[in-house]
Amino acid sequence: MAKIKNIRAIEILDSRGKPTLRTFVFLDDGTVASSSIPSGASTGSHEAVELRDNDSKRYHGLGVLKAVNNVNEIIAKKLVGQPLDKLDELDKLMIDLDGSENKSVLGANAILSVSQALIKAAAQSLKKPLWQFINEYYFEAKPRFPRMMFNVINGGKHADWNFDIQEFIIIPQRQLASESIKVGSEIYHSIQKNLKEKKLSILVGDEGGFSPILNSNEEAFQLIIESAKNIGYENGKDFKLAIDGAASEFFSNGKYILKKDNKEITGDELIKYYLEIENKYGIYSFEDVFQEDDWENWTKFKTQLNQNELLVGDDLFCTNTKRMGIGFEKKSANATIIKPNQIGTIKETVDAIKLAKQYNWLVAVSHRSGETEDSFIADLAYAAGADFLKTGSLSRSERLAKYNRLIEIENNL
Ligand code: PGA
Ligand code: ZN
Repeated sequence: MAKIKNIRAIEILDSRGKPTLRTFVFLDDGTVASSSIPSGASTGSHEAVELRDNDSKRYHGLGVLKAVNNVNEIIAKKLVGQPLDKLDELDKLMIDLDGSENKSVLGANAILSVSQALIKAAAQSLKKPLWQFINEYYFEAKPRFPRMMFNVINGGKHADWNFDIQEFIIIPQRQLASESIKVGSEIYHSIQKNLKEKKLSILVGDEGGFSPILNSNEEAFQLIIESAKNIGYENGKDFKLAIDGAASEFFSNGKYILKKDNKEITGDELIKYYLEIENKYGIYSFEDVFQEDDWENWTKFKTQLNQNELLVGDDLFCTNTKRMGIGFEKKSANATIIKPNQIGTIKETVDAIKLAKQYNWLVAVSHRSGETEDSFIADLAYAAGADFLKTGSLSRSERLAKYNRLIEIENNL
């Protein structure tokens, strides 16, 4: 197996125009691979640390030159000369080099940029598609295409002016990835047409979903269902509805504050609200519908959902096996979001996927609201046999890069 000849990170910009890292790995067989790192807005407080410069003279303090320097000066020194055959051990080396519980020393962004570039370099060096290499290296089961979670209406921190609920999602019920993407795109454009007819804004939020001013969260469901129906797609049959509440963002002093409805409510009242919309609109999947440490309400709500409905932990778990263990004990969820940059290495990301499967939870591999053109998570989702790929709406190339990558894989290219 080839050896690492050099590692070099640079500061680039993400889809919000904010700094992030792209790291290049050079092997002694001539292989060059690179990977870029995304960044969240509604981040969980238990995520690994995204190291920023806090130098107000550059990029409003958001520069990542310290993380770049940590790759080029510290991580590279440790890894150059190492063979690539034990990638999980290289990840472990970086975890130990950092030495902290949450990668606050070197930065999870620095470490993940190397971890991801290394696995790409290994696949390229062996002339294997990335998904095939990941699958053979880390997983026993065969690859499998995920269902798609398309975030067609953006609220919360990703649009910052309308809905309390961050994401209104459709999940097309089709086997082929390309078919799911087609159904998603057709519904997306039907929503656009509908908005225009209603003289509402068709501007999009951070993840490419529309962000009109409507009178309530519920109107967003009505808009989606109606727009889909206009082109012959039926809720519950052709697609299912899901939400990501990102509820930590509207939680304060033990209360949930719904700006749209102008009310402060308790966890119990919020559960009542969710059950109401579940009943009315047939919501199938509920992500982060309570604050990230409000275990009690997670568990309470779970007992009130049907077995085939999903309660999905994102900020609740942060792709962290320790937090997932707590959630399993408390029966707080039956599905998890998987975001590599919440934990900081591919090895630990894979550990989280495997643990979720052991728990019989469904797995949704996910992007961040600040993304790049890197399509790594599409290969990861397929290689891992994830149940879902959640990577935004049907516009903006940083989202479509991932969906288009699945179409490539499906066509055997
Ligand atoms: P984030 O949002 O990337 O801003 O954290 C995505 C999500 O909450 O799923
Ligand atoms: Zn989320």
